[in-house]
Amino acid sequence: MPSHRMLAQFHLIAVFLCIVFYYYPKDRLSSVQLLTEQCQYETGTLCPECFPEPVNCSFFENHITFDGYELMSEIVNRFNQHGVRFGLLNGERRVVIKNLNRNGAIQSLRDSTCEELGIEQENCHLRNNEQFLQLLRQRVLDEDLLEGAIICPPGDEGALARFVQKFDAPDLMTLLLMRTNVQPLVLRLLSQHNLPVPTFIFQGGFTLVESYDGEPLGNFYESPLNLRLKIANELIKASINFTTGVDHFRFYLTDISPDNIVVNVLPNNEAKVSFVDMNNVIILDSHSKRLDPDKRTTSHSRIDCDGCFAYVQEDLCTYHHSDINLFAVCQLLLENLNGNRDKGFLHNTENDSKLIPLRKLLHHCVYCQPPNCKDRQGVLAQIQEMIHTILT
Ligand SMILES: Nc1ncnc2c1ncn2[C@@H]1O[C@H](COP(=O)(O)OP(=O)(O)OP(=O)(O)O)[C@@H](O)[C@H]1O
Ligand SMILES: [Mg+2]
Repeated sequence: MPSHRMLAQFHLIAVFLCIVFYYYPKDRLSSVQLLTEQCQYETGTLCPECFPEPVNCSFFENHITFDGYELMSEIVNRFNQHGVRFGLLNGERRVVIKNLNRNGAIQSLRDSTCEELGIEQENCHLRNNEQFLQLLRQRVLDEDLLEGAIICPPGDEGALARFVQKFDAPDLMTLLLMRTNVQPLVLRLLSQHNLPVPTFIFQGGFTLVESYDGEPLGNFYESPLNLRLKIANELIKASINFTTGVDHFRFYLTDISPDNIVVNVLPNNEAKVSFVDMNNVIILDSHSKRLDPDKRTTSHSRIDCDGCFAYVQEDLCTYHHSDINLFAVCQLLLENLNGNRDKGFLHNTENDSKLIPLRKLLHHCVYCQPPNCKDRQGVLAQIQEMIHTILT
């Protein structure tokens, strides 16, 4: 680039920064103070009945600091569509702070519920009463839902009641989270059972603080084969454990991608994986009386879908068991979502002959056509054995 153009660009950046600094008020609240205020508003005004116990909103001010320079962190946050920020707890432990009420989802749910109940705007408040809860339950069980947390079998009020009862929060809170962002519930339930999800640290209003569990899986695609094999082994274990689930609730993850899995390589070179985006999940009550006793198990078959992951929701929700999590991990290891096998996590760029039989099994796992598929759990067990042999 010619030097005068570079100079002009520097000029523009300098002018931009001057304007930002000039208008940045000196008495402005810091990001953590803003979180404290937001928590006070959410617990005191937006939904006091969600929080019957006092919430320590000063937690944010007293214990959290954000990464990097305050102003920079605020500018980045303005443009951050994820509602996800990284910080430190007590200056030591890395944590992730997630906004559970993106785009005012709680307010929208409140307003539309009031509208349905014929309550006028000025008298519209979130209430933990039967009338309100019944409408919220209907929304959680809405059979047209395609994203967020989906409870199955479809329309099963009993399954929803059994799930809600697992949490000691008011039903209002639990149902609102199920419709807006189910992560605090899922993290609490699953980490108690040692499933690989972040640790729940604190919820202040509709802001969640969870453990920072590592770097995105996408950063490990070019790592040495041994490390990738260890990570693959953890992913396989996780896919089986999410399917087994907790207390007969299975968790089918419908958004497994290299962004939504993070990896922590421990000092002894072992790898820990964590599924960090648990908002898109199908929760099946596998003991529900509504399930047809003849529909025991369904085998997922690959559906062509450029850059996306397609599945038949009805199958996941009407059979006692599906192997979709196992399929999704096989696919992640073999290829990317466009079917490119050079871009799978266990790609074989070094043409390592050790990987050939393993990739053959992965290929079967992804491309077999039911009913001609071998049991995927068995295939994955064979793959784990191969990994073990290569690593020892
Ligand atoms: N607990 C965590 N530890 C480490 N990194 C995390 C954690 N949670 C999120 N991240 C990082 O932040 C990114 C965005 O987080 P997340 O996936 O939860 O948000 P999102 O994709 O915007 O959510 P959604 O899909 O609900 O819109 C992730 O891709 C991951 O890299
Ligand atoms: Mg994500």
